[in-house]
Amino acid sequence: MVETFEERMKVVLKILAYKKKHGLPIFHDQREEQVLQKVAHHLQNKDFADEIQTLYREIMGISRKLQSKHLLPFNIVLIGFMGSGKSTIGRILSQQLAIELLDTDQLIEKKINMTIKDIFEKHGEGYFRQVERNMIKALGQEEHKIIACGGGVVLNKENIRDLKNKGKIILLEASAETIYHRLQEDTTRPLLEGHMTKSHITSMLQDRNLYYQEAADIVIHTDGKDTKEIGEEIIFKLLSLCSSLDIRERG
Ligand code: S3P
Repeated sequence: MVETFEERMKVVLKILAYKKKHGLPIFHDQREEQVLQKVAHHLQNKDFADEIQTLYREIMGISRKLQSKHLLPFNIVLIGFMGSGKSTIGRILSQQLAIELLDTDQLIEKKINMTIKDIFEKHGEGYFRQVERNMIKALGQEEHKIIACGGGVVLNKENIRDLKNKGKIILLEASAETIYHRLQEDTTRPLLEGHMTKSHITSMLQDRNLYYQEAADIVIHTDGKDTKEIGEEIIFKLLSLCSSLDIRERG
């Protein structure tokens, strides 16, 4: 069994090299569905259909992870204003690339055992930023992860330095209009509480714009796009970024 799996992983890397050489799409979910159908077709004992399918899904996930590790050997860091879709896109990318997702706000809530809203209310923004700073410092040491950041991490230069150390930073942009529509009923963002208006969002966006732009390696406009499309665009731009880095290193 071990030898067979080792062989399979070698083949996965060979296929990857072939796809790269011929400019073929690397991550292809329809192809995985076709493989699963083939597996179902080969089954001799239908009693084990569920187990074999689960096993195959797992193997394909591992193969995808191996490919993404080789192609994108860094953390993928998502930044952007509140409501720009970092957590949602983080989940999509995590599925597409089979890479673990770490969400800074979720980790902070777990660590302090309080919601972000309660942390702001009981201890103030200064305390939250300190906890956030420590969290980013730790996450900056991670490897091969997707890190979805709270909207304010860009306000501290040290956060960006730590995140860039082992990661590429993707900025998700959305208009004030889109953000307002997404968040108007939301009660979990303390910085928008009592100011849930388009003009307040516009002014916060303006204040922060330079921080976001300066931190970003890649900028993605999200208005009018669906989540799958955004995930694919991120992967495409990351692969292009890597090949331009390759060319520069070789040249
Ligand atoms: C903040 C964004 C929030 C959260 C906190 C502060 C900000 O995260 O970290 O409320 O300063 O922009 P999301 O961007 O995930 O909403």
